[in-house]
Amino acid sequence: MLAITQINFNGIDGLTARFVAKPKLTADSVIVKMSTMPVSPTDWKLESDQHATNENLAQLPRIIGIQGAGQVVEVGENRNQSLLNQRVLVINPAGTYSEYVRSTNPDWLFLLPDAVSNEAAAALSASTALTLKKFIDVSDADNIVLTGANSVIGLTLLQLLHNESRRIYPVVTSESLTYFKEQMPSLTAYTSNQLPQLTGKTLILDTVGIVSLLETLVARTTEASVTSIVIMKDPGLPNFTFIHDDFNADDYRMFIHQLATGELKPLINRAFPITETKKAQHFAKETHSRGRVLVAF
Ligand SMILES: NC(=O)c1ccc[n+]([C@@H]2O[C@H](COP(=O)([O-])OP(=O)(O)OC[C@H]3O[C@@H](n4cnc5c(N)ncnc54)[C@H](OP(=O)(O)O)[C@@H]3O)[C@@H](O)[C@H]2O)c1
Repeated sequence: MLAITQINFNGIDGLTARFVAKPKLTADSVIVKMSTMPVSPTDWKLESDQHATNENLAQLPRIIGIQGAGQVVEVGENRNQSLLNQRVLVINPAGTYSEYVRSTNPDWLFLLPDAVSNEAAAALSASTALTLKKFIDVSDADNIVLTGANSVIGLTLLQLLHNESRRIYPVVTSESLTYFKEQMPSLTAYTSNQLPQLTGKTLILDTVGIVSLLETLVARTTEASVTSIVIMKDPGLPNFTFIHDDFNADDYRMFIHQLATGELKPLINRAFPITETKKAQHFAKETHSRGRVLVAF
């Protein structure tokens, strides 16, 4: 079967399309025929830097991707037989960019209702957004500033914050102001230079990871704290914390339900064929964020 494999740390162009053995069904597993996988910054970061994330995902060679949607085509004898032929979202840290994936953990397999397409499920990036929301919920800040507000995680977070009563200041690049307005008409976005001077406590949430941008924003506040999902070590910013999401199966079930009801809007850019994975990653990396780029069989 075809699999997109990382065999070195030479970046996106070091990826290889290889034919590898199809995984064998075991009593405790199901085999998923993959349809759609997301392209995320984590992919290309891991392809050039073994220590790009705090998870131990970069043991080589590895099939890339950890999430994707497809259809169950084989079911092991110890698994629920009604899974056969169902569409699912599968989480598989051992790789999802392959024609077939063997899924052994029932908590990492989610049935998709008719109202949730493979594309919407594959693009789901709500786990980190929910971690940020929980952080905001317990914060005593008066103002909330969000960098990369048009990013997939940023827009997902803003959807989750629809009941937030404190003032939110989304920060985007000038090229993304129009897109942000289309996505979030009820909020006013600012470029970093347009952010007004803020008084009181300000929580700056960062999805971009550029220290100079954060320093510009800190300079516009009287009492700031900075929380990043990108910068792992404190670069000398006030009250700095790095946070990362912990996988939670119940949260994923809730997100899929919210996609089905329309409470959560999928953020999808465009799909590339799997044979154009490198092109898809270059496109996602080198263009402004307009929803999740996908790769499809
Ligand atoms: N800690 C965790 O648990 C965790 C989990 C998943 C992902 N992440 C990280 O979270 C980050 C966001 O992920 P995502 O999928 O939401 O990314 P994304 O949709 O690709 O968005 C990237 C954002 O960064 C902005 N940006 C890029 N260069 C910039 C610059 N020079 N100045 C200002 N803004 C700039 C982009 O703005 P434009 O669109 O205007 O260019 C966009 O808003 C990634 O770095 C990813 O690795 C962390």
